[in-house]
Amino acid sequence: MNPKNRTRIPTKTQCYEMLKETGTFEHIKEHSETVTRVAKEIAQRLNEAGKNIDIELVVAAALLHDVTKTRSLETGEDHAKTGAELIRGKGYIDVSEIVRQHVRLDDEPGNETITEAEIVNYADKRVINREIVDLKERRDYILKRYADIFDDPGEIEKIFKNMEKTEAKIFNAMPYRPTSLKENVS
Ligand SMILES: [Fe+2]
Repeated sequence: MNPKNRTRIPTKTQCYEMLKETGTFEHIKEHSETVTRVAKEIAQRLNEAGKNIDIELVVAAALLHDVTKTRSLETGEDHAKTGAELIRGKGYIDVSEIVRQHVRLDDEPGNETITEAEIVNYADKRVINREIVDLKERRDYILKRYADIFDDPGEIEKIFKNMEKTEAKIFNAMPYRPTSLKENVS
């Protein structure tokens, strides 16, 4: 993203305040912190490879991607949608757009350009709770645990098919393979 065009981004402190305001459970906060570490590692490596990823934007969106998840466990609300609305309401439009797309991306993976939304979406799919896992493990976990929230059972398969393409695209520009991500995340 071109920094000139981007909208306001909350600081880490502001992100943590929002997580507190929404009563985010500790384990969801810890999940978000792991997703943030994964997303930041990818963003940094991509920039070293000459990409132009907005790391601050990636970090804020990754920290906030599950900001309404705790509430959704009770209400059954679509937490990607309501999280995005909450963040949009505070004026963080770019962060909101990434949070909105953290379960399902709007666009099919293209050939080369890697977006901040793809990085956060992908990072979330490499983490179960606080553990960094591979895509297949995460897919099996979602199929087992969340199959009922997807209207179309084929949709999870489709999401992960696209995710494999996104993974290939991202790691085409990375200095190591997807299986080495875990040992590279600090
Ligand atoms: Fe989520």
